[in-house]
Amino acid sequence: MIWIIGRAGLLGAEVSKAVEKLGLSFAATGRELDILAPHALRDFARGKDIHAIVNCAGYTAVDRAEAEEDLAVRVNAEGPENLARLSLRLGARLIHLSTDYVFSGTKREPYLESDAPDPVNAYGRSKAEGETRVLAAGPDSVIVRSAWLYGRHGGNFVSTMLKLMRERDSVDVVDDQHGSPTWAADLAGVLAGLAARPDLPAGIYHYSGEGQASWYGFAVEIQSLALKHGLLDRACSLRPVATSQYPRAARRPAYSVLSQEKIKALGFRAPPWRESLERFILSLRGMQS
Ligand SMILES: NC(=O)c1ccc[n+]([C@@H]2O[C@H](COP(=O)([O-])OP(=O)(O)OC[C@H]3O[C@@H](n4cnc5c(N)ncnc54)[C@H](OP(=O)(O)O)[C@@H]3O)[C@@H](O)[C@H]2O)c1
Repeated sequence: MIWIIGRAGLLGAEVSKAVEKLGLSFAATGRELDILAPHALRDFARGKDIHAIVNCAGYTAVDRAEAEEDLAVRVNAEGPENLARLSLRLGARLIHLSTDYVFSGTKREPYLESDAPDPVNAYGRSKAEGETRVLAAGPDSVIVRSAWLYGRHGGNFVSTMLKLMRERDSVDVVDDQHGSPTWAADLAGVLAGLAARPDLPAGIYHYSGEGQASWYGFAVEIQSLALKHGLLDRACSLRPVATSQYPRAARRPAYSVLSQEKIKALGFRAPPWRESLERFILSLRGMQS
């Protein structure tokens, strides 16, 4: 069976659905089973025939991590290391999530899996340390770095933008950070596929929506699709601004597009990000009616 950890999160909730769709048996745990408690993890796994663990649990508050780096490192590095150790004992494969924020964003072409992490914020440092500790403790692990996730569950850029667009006449959006918007349901499908294929090579893979955008460009597309499909009944004015005009606690990479070539070579498809965004917006419309 597949063990999904972080079931209540933005991504974890979608992974359970994707695994179910493939007809695979699974168990899913949330906050009640702390990834910082190795004995409790071992107790949970006892007697179960677990062949893959998908870890979607994490400390994901990018700005708050600046003031809580110790906690971020515990959850994003010590926790995953516990899971890598346990995977080794169980003879199961750990599939662990990481992020484009392990990179500084100084490159101007898509980041490769072989590029060295050089994070510019506490969250990125904690995730980079998690990668190192997972691969050291569980060499058969798979790490999937993704980016700019949105979906039905949890706070995310699309739901925040739709709310602001309904409430305000104008919204300022950062236009000098570029990345790849990724629908959590697409990523969940890939994670389920990886969990079903223990024969695939271990190591780091990148997966995000195909193509790139700035946060402003992403917001423009959200508004346009939401108007087209009746989720908004009027347009609000979107204004592109520089990061310097929108100060936050954590620095962000200016460019964090991830190369998809390695995972594509395994046969996984990354849909163009606009295509996925439209499917997501249509799924929200379905929920409204
Ligand atoms: N969101 C993005 O844009 C993005 C981009 C790239 C990569 N990722 C990575 O993708 C993964 C999933 O992200 P997400 O956006 O789905 O995160 P999320 O919505 O914040 O979900 C994370 C879940 O982990 C749980 N959790 C936190 N500490 C835990 C612990 N000690 N033991 C067990 N569970 C714990 C959280 O519970 P509480 O809510 O109760 O704390 C939450 O349900 C993370 O590894 C993240 O770094 C995310």
